[in-house]
Amino acid sequence: MSNDVIDRPPRSRVVWGTVAGAIVILLVLALTAGWAASRPSTVTVDGVSREVSNGATVRTLGPGTYRSSAGDMLAVDGTVTRVRGGQPIQVLRNGHPATPDELLHSGDVIVSRPGADLRESLETTEVSVPFAISYLGKGSLIEERVPGVPGVRLVTRGALSGVEVSSTVLIQPNDAVVQRFHPRAGTKVVALTFDDGPWPKSTEAILDVLKREQVPGTFFMLGVRVKKAPAVARRVVAEGHQVANHTLGHRLLTKEKPKEIKHQIRGGAAAIKKYTGVSTRWLRPPYGGMNAKSWKVARVEKVHVVIWDVDSKDWTKPGAQKIASNVVRHAKPGSIILMHDGGGDRSQTVKALPTIIKKLRAKGYLFVTVEELYAVKRAPK
Ligand code: NI
Repeated sequence: MSNDVIDRPPRSRVVWGTVAGAIVILLVLALTAGWAASRPSTVTVDGVSREVSNGATVRTLGPGTYRSSAGDMLAVDGTVTRVRGGQPIQVLRNGHPATPDELLHSGDVIVSRPGADLRESLETTEVSVPFAISYLGKGSLIEERVPGVPGVRLVTRGALSGVEVSSTVLIQPNDAVVQRFHPRAGTKVVALTFDDGPWPKSTEAILDVLKREQVPGTFFMLGVRVKKAPAVARRVVAEGHQVANHTLGHRLLTKEKPKEIKHQIRGGAAAIKKYTGVSTRWLRPPYGGMNAKSWKVARVEKVHVVIWDVDSKDWTKPGAQKIASNVVRHAKPGSIILMHDGGGDRSQTVKALPTIIKKLRAKGYLFVTVEELYAVKRAPK
């Protein structure tokens, strides 16, 4: 046996040494790669150097990073309707348009370009052109002769701003014609009218005077008042006076939408019908207020609009004497005289009424209801 036996490690130790070496190398590689991966990259955005984490994309930079901004949304007149509402900014990475998901690499040069402004789109709509009213003639009686017809206008506007660009009338409106007239010449008649009731005490006191003097009156009642004093409303009917509509709740019809005008007219008539059994088509609009809208509803609802030509001004409470002289001095053949039985203390009106009747009688006047007054107008000659 030779002595130069080389001490050799056992075979197994050689294998284990190699594996350990490989692991160390792999660990070093892995650490190096990890360090490289976690090391922030440096990119230039609009000339400013910025550090971004590895794996960052163009989207990661965010809108606040860029110098440029999105365009605006402009109205048709050039004013800005929505700031930054236009095209978004354009981002170039190393001179090429970049998509948001592109990965950033160290040394990348990112440049932003401002977005373009956008102009709003246009919208064309048909708009109704209201008609006006022509009043013809004079007198206490009033009738719509020609119904008004609205016209049509084409309007082009900015879809967002609503700014009008152009407007063309397609169809001209046709004005309504309302005729005012006197009853037939030579008929010395007047109508006493009482508004805003029925009102306990006031209405009853007026009814007492009219009964004593054998004079008919016309009572323009409010639906809400008829509901509160139905017995008084029934007494008006029972004593032969004309009951007429002063709407449901005394709204100024010229300020209301057609739907509410209809509700006010129908509501007043319905309350009168319910509590007195009388169907009336005679309407006195509160404050005498009528416009194109309310005339149109009145026509559809088939009501006769009644106003007045002599205002007693009893609502200003000037004293019984003044109320009486306001009426007597201004009354003409065919006059419709405005007074109030409701809406507050009407003791001055009650006190003035006998004087009014006495003095008008002395001038040769007869008293009729509003309905009778219109009939006088229509009577054949
Ligand atoms: Ni009134």
